Amino acid sequence: MPRKVFDGVDYDDGYDDDYDYDDLDDADYYGKAQPSEPVKETIKRGTWSCPICTYDNDESMTACDICGVFRNPLPHMNNNHDKKTVPFKFDAPSPDDIVSNGLRSSKTASKATAKTSDSSSAKTQWSKTNNVEDNNHVKDGVLRLQANNKASASSSISKESIPSMESSSKLSTGNEQLGDQVSGASSRRNRMGEGTPSVEEIRPQSHNRGMSKSDLPSKSRAPYKPEKWMLPEKEGSDLNQLNLAIVGHVDSGKSTLSGRLLHLLGRISQKQMHKYEKEAKIQGKGSFAYAWALDESPEERERGITMTVGVAYFDTKNYHVVVLDSPGHKDFIPNMISGATQADAAILVIDASIGSFEAGVDPTKGQTREHAQLIRSFGVDQLIVAINKMDVVEYSKERYDTIKQKLGAFLRLCGFKDLSVLWIPLSAMENQNLVSASSDARLRSWYQGPHLLDAIDSLQPPTRDISKPVVMPVCDVVKSQSTGQVSAIGKLASGALRSGSKVLVMPSGDVGTVRSLERDSRPCTVARAGDNVSVVLHGVEETNIMSGDVLCHPEFPVPTAKHVELKVLVLDGSAPIVIGSQLEFHVHHAKEAARVVKIISLLDPKTGKASKKTPRCLVAKQSAILEVVLNGSVCAEEYSNCKALGRVSLRSLGRTVAVGVITRLIED
Ligand code: GTP
Ligand code: MG
Repeated sequence: MPRKVFDGVDYDDGYDDDYDYDDLDDADYYGKAQPSEPVKETIKRGTWSCPICTYDNDESMTACDICGVFRNPLPHMNNNHDKKTVPFKFDAPSPDDIVSNGLRSSKTASKATAKTSDSSSAKTQWSKTNNVEDNNHVKDGVLRLQANNKASASSSISKESIPSMESSSKLSTGNEQLGDQVSGASSRRNRMGEGTPSVEEIRPQSHNRGMSKSDLPSKSRAPYKPEKWMLPEKEGSDLNQLNLAIVGHVDSGKSTLSGRLLHLLGRISQKQMHKYEKEAKIQGKGSFAYAWALDESPEERERGITMTVGVAYFDTKNYHVVVLDSPGHKDFIPNMISGATQADAAILVIDASIGSFEAGVDPTKGQTREHAQLIRSFGVDQLIVAINKMDVVEYSKERYDTIKQKLGAFLRLCGFKDLSVLWIPLSAMENQNLVSASSDARLRSWYQGPHLLDAIDSLQPPTRDISKPVVMPVCDVVKSQSTGQVSAIGKLASGALRSGSKVLVMPSGDVGTVRSLERDSRPCTVARAGDNVSVVLHGVEETNIMSGDVLCHPEFPVPTAKHVELKVLVLDGSAPIVIGSQLEFHVHHAKEAARVVKIISLLDPKTGKASKKTPRCLVAKQSAILEVVLNGSVCAEEYSNCKALGRVSLRSLGRTVAVGVITRLIED
């Protein structure tokens, strides 16, 4: 798993907390808004260089293995391989735009064939920027995490106790109810031969990886009983782990806030911080010094934009916190989804400056609403709203109240309860109200509530589902270049693992043994539900495991499906969904092109019961039962059986159009 390693705590430098921003000019501050030179894709023999992150991808990849940007031109569309460069346009269709249009990313697709380059790529990218040993056995820090691809980090807790789409499950934009019931057929994988031909053309391999039905290990008839070692040790012996997603509109200050917290809490040394400041200034990006702790790739730094999820750790009084710093730019929402799907709680960062808050909540262009809706649909119901950049509005109470009122109304519609939402005015840049009460008289005069760290500590501990067999959706796969060992990285949705445990990889069906485990880059003996770990596997072929797969108990294989019934809520601003609509289907870390084949019924928002059979289309704010057929099988489960494998989001043209749950796996 790629990790960034900090130098550790270093309080000796006499670092002055008040960073001198006076010498920043506007170009500095607004650097990210300025158009940059067109970037070129370079093609070398056997590889092509990504125009965004410059990673040298294997010739077989149609999208960049690191940042997901599509190769342009796609090789099968233009055979002019002699062409040396292709102009890059940042606002070209995003990976998921293209997926929804049928040209599916090879990110997951070509993993089967391009596995070697793939798994090593995470490593390469990491070492390229951070010089980290590939065994990762070291200190805490930041690592990158990318949709269907890049790593995740340590710890967290399953969300089984969180009611979001669970029980009464009010979801997203409306007061629509999405109950979590429904049962039905159990799952299986079947080839349907349906789907967009162009997608198949690009990624034929991954769909053929699954075992045939007869190969599947038979599901144990005996009820599952956890063994003694699986149960947690004495209460209070360890800090609770909390996966905390940092989400919000582009540029709201998520990375700056995360970096500042890490520094204040001693996770970034003085020395390292000085280095970031110096380098950022030299590059004319002085205001991004704290963000550099999380945005560590040259492209992210140059653009002043987060592209992949940065993962870091810090401890509070009550929690061992795993920070998941999400990208805010719309092109990288698939990456945001992959990180945020593991969250136990979230900080929604708002830019308080005039015009910026408004841009963020704009239903068509802003990402604030989409992030809030997505987070809620992943089961997160505890939210801290960090109203950032209060320095820009002179710590105005009126501005804070206006934002709280407008956004509060929206969050209520998303299903967040007032009592579960904490509002904290702060300034990441001026270090106001982060880990201690504000020193600025303007803010202190009207705000005496908790600071951010207190707010994090006041979150309810998530529960762990250890009573069920182990299920771990795989977020990333890494092959050690030195030992050749294959590691799967992800968060345990349920159950427990330890060295020697047998695991089944679905859908490939490989059975392997856990050789060792790592949590927060350190070896650990046992991993339990909620822990985000790296599992070193023995006996699993590198080509038979990829992100989007699931590790499970050999006697309790998780199902796979290609045809599913969903209960969804169509989000605000979405185009109508009709039979035949091509969508991008996201479930845990898997992503697959999908087609709506049936709209069964509309649901009454109040009762959750069917109100109209077979409507012709679904529009914003409607909830409904529908069926989709995927291009390839994915590990999936009815939500009532396994929440982690049963929550889905549907995207189209770069936007999330619906969120929901799987109500039935359909065998064709
Ligand atoms: P993406 O990850 O690309 O979505 O951006 P982000 O939300 O991580 O924002 P980032 O931390 O990169 O900060 C964007 C800009 O806002 C930088 O120039 C920061 O210096 C600036 N910024 C962040 N926090 C504050 C703040 O509290 N006050 C002021 N004035 N500027 C801030
Ligand atoms: Mg960022």
